[in-house]
Amino acid sequence: MLALDFSIFPQLETDRLQLTRTNVDHVNELLKMRSDPEVMKFIPRPMARTAEEIIEFIAAIDEKISNHEMINWAITLKGDAKMIGTIGYYHIKPEHFRAEIGYMLLPEFQGRGFITEAIDVVVSYGFAEMKLHSVEAVLDPNNLASASVLEKCGFIKEGHFKENEFYNGKFIDTAIYSKVNS
Ligand SMILES: CC(C)(COP(=O)(O)OP(=O)(O)OC[C@H]1O[C@@H](n2cnc3c(N)ncnc32)[C@H](O)[C@@H]1OP(=O)(O)O)[C@@H](O)C(=O)NCCC(=O)NCCS
Repeated sequence: MLALDFSIFPQLETDRLQLTRTNVDHVNELLKMRSDPEVMKFIPRPMARTAEEIIEFIAAIDEKISNHEMINWAITLKGDAKMIGTIGYYHIKPEHFRAEIGYMLLPEFQGRGFITEAIDVVVSYGFAEMKLHSVEAVLDPNNLASASVLEKCGFIKEGHFKENEFYNGKFIDTAIYSKVNS
C-alpha cells in the first residue's frame, strides 16, 4: 500500500511555470475559471457562483491535502503570482498505487502548451516521489483538447464507457486514459 505524505508541500516547477499550494490569493482566478461555462463544459461538477463557495472549496482541498488524501496545485507563470490554472491528483487509490489526474486552465492561457508542461512535471512527481504505478484521466469523450494533451504526454486511451455516469439528470459516457510507470 502506498504511504502518502504531503506534510511538506511539494512545490514543482517547469521551464515556464510554478506549481504551488492553492490559497485565498487565488480566489478571483478560481472563481473566474470555475464559473466559466466553456471551461466547465466537459466537467461534471456544478459551476461556482460566489467567492464564498470558492473559499470553502479551497478549505476543503486544504484539509484533504493535510490528511494526505489528495493533492492539487495552483499553476502560475514564473515571475507572476496570478493563478492561470490548476492541476492535481483528485482521487488517489493507495491500494492500487494509482491516482486520477485533473487539470484546467483559464481560457486566455489555453493553446500555449502550458498544461502539457504541468502534466509532465506532475506525472514525474507522481511516479518518482509518490511512488504511483499508474496515473489515469477520466474525461468526457468529446473533450478533444484534453484527449490531445494527454496523448502528447504519453497517455494511452484504454476505454470508452457508455453512459456509466449519471450527471444533471443524464447518463454520460466517459473515456479513460492512463500512463503506466514502466
Ligand atoms: C484541457 C485543457 C487544459 C487543454 O489546454 P490547452 O492549453 O488548450 O492545451 P494545448 O494547447 O497544449 O493543446 C491542446 C491541443 O488540443 C487541440 N484542441 C484544442 N481545442 C480543440 C477542439 N475543440 N477540438 C479539437 N482539438 C482541439 C489543440 O489544437 C492542441 O493540439 P495540438 O497541440 O496538436 O495543436 C484546456 O482546454 C482546458 O482547461 N479545458 C477546460 C477544462 C477541462 O476540460 N479540463 C480537462 C478535464 S479532463
